[in-house]
Amino acid sequence: MILIGLCLFQDCPSRQEIQGSLKQVQKLLSAHEASYLQSLRNLKKKINLLQSNAGRQASKAINSTCMKLDAPVNGRKLGKSHSIGHEVHFLCDPGYELVGSESRICQENLIWSGQQPTCRDINECASSPCLNGGTCMDEVNQFSCVCAKGWAGATCQNHTHHRAATTGPFVRPSRCTIVQGTTHCTCEPGYTISGRDSNTCTDIDECELFHNGQAGRLCLHACVNTAGGYRCSCPVGYDVTQDGRSCRDIDECATRQNNCTNDQMCINTYGGFQCVRVDCPKIPNATYVKTSPMRCERNPCPVDNKACSQAPNSFSYHYLAVVSNLSAPRVMFRVSALRQMGDTLRFSLLGGRQARRHFTVQRSDRLTGQLMLVSPVQGPATLEAEVEMSELERRVHLGKYITKVTMFVSQYEF
Ligand SMILES: *[C@@H]1O[C@H](CO)[C@@H](O)[C@H](O)[C@H]1NC(C)=O
Ligand SMILES: *[C@@H]1O[C@H](CO)[C@@H](O)[C@H](O)[C@H]1NC(C)=O
Ligand SMILES: *[C@@H]1O[C@H](CO)[C@@H](O)[C@H](O)[C@H]1NC(C)=O
Ligand SMILES: *[C@@H]1O[C@H](CO)[C@@H](O)[C@H](O)[C@H]1NC(C)=O
Ligand SMILES: *[C@@H]1O[C@H](CO)[C@@H](O)[C@H](O)[C@H]1NC(C)=O
Repeated sequence: MILIGLCLFQDCPSRQEIQGSLKQVQKLLSAHEASYLQSLRNLKKKINLLQSNAGRQASKAINSTCMKLDAPVNGRKLGKSHSIGHEVHFLCDPGYELVGSESRICQENLIWSGQQPTCRDINECASSPCLNGGTCMDEVNQFSCVCAKGWAGATCQNHTHHRAATTGPFVRPSRCTIVQGTTHCTCEPGYTISGRDSNTCTDIDECELFHNGQAGRLCLHACVNTAGGYRCSCPVGYDVTQDGRSCRDIDECATRQNNCTNDQMCINTYGGFQCVRVDCPKIPNATYVKTSPMRCERNPCPVDNKACSQAPNSFSYHYLAVVSNLSAPRVMFRVSALRQMGDTLRFSLLGGRQARRHFTVQRSDRLTGQLMLVSPVQGPATLEAEVEMSELERRVHLGKYITKVTMFVSQYEF
């Protein structure tokens, strides 16, 4: 750099004088620079020549092998010797193709010939193997076809339209992949390869498959096979529960799904309902009055009317809903006296043969008798039993009270 000397205002040279001398200095400098660079270049050349001569002689003397070569990623190198004149070869793993030199030679100058190769994933879709509008998906060493509607097979080669066996929701085309020439086909959940035709998946009938499963039945009542799955169904009068496999009784009496009239009572049963009407009994010489919806009491008897005074003092009505095949023995109902008037309280079962076949009456404590179911009942059925409680004082009859129990047995055990 050239410094323009400082000058005081009155002694400064004129602008023209300065510009002239500057131009002269620049010319001089350019000439110097050019010759300087030229000699520098010459020097560098000489040094390089010397260096390479020296290096070649040294390496030839001590080392006559080329640099070690690595196998390409996803490939292999054949040949171990790296000496001059030796050759190495390169191979790629299946599904990959070689890009670059297949073989390289260690040359005299200790530099390998050719280019270091790489292994590139072969695009199996490049040949458009999927037919009939199928979409090819390239994967390492394989491809898969996603077929257009109406076509199936590893390469979507098969028509599915006009064959009943491969249409409908219970039949689906499979998804196939080809791995090194071998076809593997898979199905959506709930479907399976059917028979020898690997192009077609058919619905698995879970109901059939798990019918007698060790883990219990699939459904409490009925199993309905669906495309790709199944569902449980319940008989009329029941809902499928939240878990999807059990059945729960619908309370028709609570949900107005009953047609009982105003003078009837609705009794919910398992799987249905019953409309009942309590009418007081007609007994000669005695009259009854309804004192509650489920109870009738005898009106006071005329003096000395023995037929009236021996008629039951009251009738009570009870309705039970039970499931079929209820295990037995078990207590179905209890009848109690509030207090004892006489010295003896007796409980007994009234009714015909049917009642005696299924029930018995026992005393459970001093004031209580119980109606027992003695054998399971298969529904649907309606059973009736009457429990008589009588009070005596020194063998003289004081009064008797009848409890009528009606049992509605359902058709199913749930
Ligand atoms: C020979 O040269 C190679 C690389 O050019 C080097 O890796 C190797 O260690 C050398 N061997 C000797 C014995 O100097
Ligand atoms: C699907 O095509 C293949 C080859 O084209 C054939 O072997 C196979 O039987 C065909 N399947 C059906 C169900 O037609
Ligand atoms: C109630 O409906 C059932 C059918 O759902 C019918 O059989 C029955 O007779 C009806 N009862 C009355 C009281 O209408
Ligand atoms: C029943 O009542 C009728 C009259 O209402 C009377 O004649 C008859 O004797 C009574 N029967 C008995 C067993 O008391
Ligand atoms: C009734 O239940 C018993 C077990 O509690 C069972 O072994 C029997 O098979 C059932 N009967 C019917 C008809 O379901």
